[in-house]
Amino acid sequence: MSKVALITGVTGQDGSYLSEFLLSKGYEVHGIIRRSSVDFRECIAHLEGQPNFHLHFGDLGDSMSLVKVVGKVKPTEIYNLAAQSHVQVSFDSPEFTADVDATGVLRVLEAVRACGLEKTCRIYQASTSELYGKVEEVPQNENTPFHPYSPYAVAKLYGFWIVKEYREAYNMFCCSGILFNHESERRGETFVTRKITLAAARIAQGLQDKLYLGNLSSLRDWGYAKDYVECMWLILQNDKPEDFVIATGVQHSVREFAYYAFKHAGIELKFEGEGMNEKGICVAGPENLIGKTLVEVSEDFYRPTDVVNLWGDPTKAKAKLGWNPSKTSFEELVKIMVDSDMAKVAAEGAAQKVRMNLAEYLEKGIVK
Ligand code: GDD
Repeated sequence: MSKVALITGVTGQDGSYLSEFLLSKGYEVHGIIRRSSVDFRECIAHLEGQPNFHLHFGDLGDSMSLVKVVGKVKPTEIYNLAAQSHVQVSFDSPEFTADVDATGVLRVLEAVRACGLEKTCRIYQASTSELYGKVEEVPQNENTPFHPYSPYAVAKLYGFWIVKEYREAYNMFCCSGILFNHESERRGETFVTRKITLAAARIAQGLQDKLYLGNLSSLRDWGYAKDYVECMWLILQNDKPEDFVIATGVQHSVREFAYYAFKHAGIELKFEGEGMNEKGICVAGPENLIGKTLVEVSEDFYRPTDVVNLWGDPTKAKAKLGWNPSKTSFEELVKIMVDSDMAKVAAEGAAQKVRMNLAEYLEKGIVK
């Protein structure tokens, strides 16, 4: 039987990598996108037009749209990756976050039942290490108690439990991947890693003066998103439906991420001071930056409750799925992201120069 995957959140970092991965495995891939007047398809632009890649309009907030797409596509696997995924945003938009990240999961499960596919369609739910929140154990594994610590995490906890409930109540093959932070050159620009790599590239190329961050001591287990999508797929190929922690098993602070990112961009930072007064000062690198404060702390990026000690134990995924959590090291991940942003910023800088030159020429009447 041919394999047909349906991906919600297909336009995001994970959705785009998963699409590539499944296409390479011979799947027919269908993605759900929201109607919008602005273009947000940058991550999947290279896939559009491929014969096995199809897009459908739908929304996790609209059950009828889900029933229609699921009924039309008749997927053998669904990957529910769509979400309001920003933890800080969930404090400003808690109701929207609950609707998409909690009830949205229920809508996907119900759409599968409404279409009579509960025996043939396997469902992957994008769950999160944020469930461990105010952590009760370090490192965290599948048996660690949950303690969600943001509106986002509380909504995701509902998603996790409703998936488990449908597995037990209706015998559906649905499971959650409890993914720790996973990053890449396609990461959204407001998540801390990408914010840092983009700023390091801009500062190194003279296009930005300073980077403002929140809690520099926060600890995360950061992996490469491209490696993690393989695990989503492996979870659905397992003999029985089970939940898995996906992580590297290695932990670093936001401060360390910044240190390595700037270093790779040719700038060595020394951190001085504490808490709100901590600063990252350039001690080696381009002459004009030496002695300058390039990183400062701002209250704006602190959260009402922050999760500060995430560290995953991927033993179960290694043993049962044969997944390799060490494929891309922390240093390699930082390098991939900085290299990509250095090139992006250089291209933007060149385009800006062309625009400025043109404006100057027009002003001087050289070009008419
Ligand atoms: N975004 C952001 N911006 N975070 C900052 C900043 C800043 O300027 N400064 C410090 N941080 C700290 C946050 O307080 C948090 O402790 C840590 O950096 C990571 O923040 P994010 O990169 O925004 O990610 P997250 O851990 O909150 O959530 C991400 O990972 C989860 C998996 O654990 C998201 O992708 C979630 O959707 C995902 O579930």
